[in-house]
Amino acid sequence: MKKDSLKDKVVIITGASSGIGASCALAFGKSGAKIVITGRYLAKLNAVKAKLEAEGITVLAISADAGVIADNERMAEIVLSEFGKIDILINNAGITMRALFENLDLEVFHKVMDTNFWGAVYATKVCLPSILETKGTVIGISSVNGFRGTPARTAYTASKYAMNGFFESLRTEVMKKGVHVLVACPGFTASNIRKNALTAHGSVQGDSPRDESKMMSSEEVAEEILNATLKRKRDLTLTTQGKLLKFLNKWMPGRLDHIVYNQMAKEKDSPFH
Ligand SMILES: NC(=O)c1ccc[n+]([C@@H]2O[C@H](COP(=O)([O-])OP(=O)(O)OC[C@H]3O[C@@H](n4cnc5c(N)ncnc54)[C@H](OP(=O)(O)O)[C@@H]3O)[C@@H](O)[C@H]2O)c1
Repeated sequence: MKKDSLKDKVVIITGASSGIGASCALAFGKSGAKIVITGRYLAKLNAVKAKLEAEGITVLAISADAGVIADNERMAEIVLSEFGKIDILINNAGITMRALFENLDLEVFHKVMDTNFWGAVYATKVCLPSILETKGTVIGISSVNGFRGTPARTAYTASKYAMNGFFESLRTEVMKKGVHVLVACPGFTASNIRKNALTAHGSVQGDSPRDESKMMSSEEVAEEILNATLKRKRDLTLTTQGKLLKFLNKWMPGRLDHIVYNQMAKEKDSPFH
């Protein structure tokens, strides 16, 4: 990757205090971009900011809840007054859940939709005017759950399908205006997402039910996203398992119902079996 391939570009990454977002901040920053990181907790953001600044990257940290429209408006105002433009928006902020739908509080469903889906809609709404001017890029960090549902993940799957539909439609609206829309669908990636997953009544799960050490690293995911951005690709599906899932879902979705059920039932403390 050329060190200055994104020189002077302004990149906003939502949910960049951890995992894929923090790794994207480093990867895009090392390519020369000025980086804006957001998340709900300033202390966590400041830790990432210090790490990036140690690499010589220009960073702005803004505490903002993705699911709150006013926070998104404030984010765009601050970025425009500080840097004057937005070139790339990475809609990455996300949470997951783990419970059977029959037991799931609807408040938890709303929380997941507010963060993952509405968060992406709000941030895109407030950043798009500048991105239309810069002929830049809007990225949705979706998931393999954006094209294939899995049990005990109804709200998460719904939020990611909604993201995919939103960005697919938006892509065709802005493509003649020079704006690039990328939807990235990572597979299992080592991060804090499963530790922070919400249970049926909204408490935090606290531990990952899967072996995180066997997953793709967030740094590898960030490199793939950076590459796809520079090549202005329309979509990106990650991990061998994720690519296989896409193939099987297209050609044998009924068989896949049983395969995903059996696979997910093997998780530690699975809510079904
Ligand atoms: N890890 C995987 O296996 C995987 C697979 C496919 C897709 N993804 C997607 O990748 C994205 C990043 O997840 P990750 O795996 O890197 O998880 P992670 O380590 O838990 O990071 C999630 C980030 O989102 C932020 N966030 C959560 N709620 C937020 C809110 N309301 N407002 C603003 N920021 C918020 C968190 O910051 P604070 O908590 O500090 O606010 C954190 O920085 C998500 O969209 C996820 O769905 C992950």
